[in-house]
Amino acid sequence: MKKFFQVVGFSLFAIVAFALFANYGIPKINPAPPPVEEKVDLGAMTIESFIALGDRIFNGKGTCTLCHNAVGGRAPMLDSVAAKAGERVSDARYKGTATDSEGYIYESMVEPSAFVVVGFGKSGTNDTVSPMPNVSTGSIGLSDVELKAVVAYLQDKAGSDVTVEIPTEAPADEEQEEGAERVVAKTAEEVIENYGCTMCHKIAAGEGDMGPDLTKIGAAKSREYLRRAILDPNANIAVGFDPDMMPGDFGDQMAASELELLVKYMADSK
Ligand code: HEC
Ligand code: HEC
Repeated sequence: MKKFFQVVGFSLFAIVAFALFANYGIPKINPAPPPVEEKVDLGAMTIESFIALGDRIFNGKGTCTLCHNAVGGRAPMLDSVAAKAGERVSDARYKGTATDSEGYIYESMVEPSAFVVVGFGKSGTNDTVSPMPNVSTGSIGLSDVELKAVVAYLQDKAGSDVTVEIPTEAPADEEQEEGAERVVAKTAEEVIENYGCTMCHKIAAGEGDMGPDLTKIGAAKSREYLRRAILDPNANIAVGFDPDMMPGDFGDQMAASELELLVKYMADSK
């Protein structure tokens, strides 16, 4: 996933670089045009770069694909959610305030229980409570601009008109994030936070319930079992849960020291 992120990041850089070159690098043939174009703000985003930002957030920082993926089956696919929004907001079970696809997708991210897709509710709530976290808070903490970029990405993906307003400047922290090397976590709590374990598990301060409760896992399982549960989740499937739900690529993403912190933390949770 990290590789993928780098590839997307590089592609974006190449696209932006090319767009800038095409727009500003090639001399205009028009005879002495009045320099109106000088006023164009180079920091301003184009719709393409805004959609690409949403793509990167969706597949990276937003952690959306932990749950919204083709293999897990525990969250609906979002390829055509923009096209389905009209149906959602006119559903009798809809409790939100959105009237269009932009509003519906945005609301889904900050108030997931406003509408719960049939069959995907928190267990025992009869599809009234969503297991999806509010992605504008907690460890994901997407900003308003980032949420809008994701909306643009999902509208574009569904082939719908992109209706979100493009911000006039790139979000300030975005560049930092691209340049910054990921810092290796020093405590198990940081590892748990960084890799989003709490979204699906009850572990540390987290209350996720798409996977088994891990608060007493050390009483039942050995360190070897726990290590394998992270490196190769499908090797053993916890009773009552489906395979392919727990992401299988944590082993590629984590530093070995992070893995060992996690294993020790879980083994000590009794
Ligand atoms: C912990 C798992 C999880 C994560 C992480 C997650 N979601 Fe969800 N999401 C769900 C589940 C389950 C549903 C279906 C229940 C519901 O309707 O709320 C859902 C529903 C949705 C819907 C409504 C789908 C529809 O067909 O109406 C949208 C839109 C959505 N998610 C977007 C996102 C985006 C964007 C992200 C990342 C920023 C994200 N989700 C992260 C689990 C998750
Ligand atoms: C998208 C949801 C999701 C995320 C994120 C997730 N898990 Fe899981 N996990 C599951 C599900 C579902 C299972 C049960 C199915 C299975 O055993 O593979 C599971 C199983 C496990 C088990 C085995 C439990 C048992 O009783 O056998 C361990 C240990 C575990 N996860 C640890 C973690 C850790 C540590 C993280 C963060 C690095 C994490 N998980 C992230 C969904 C998730």
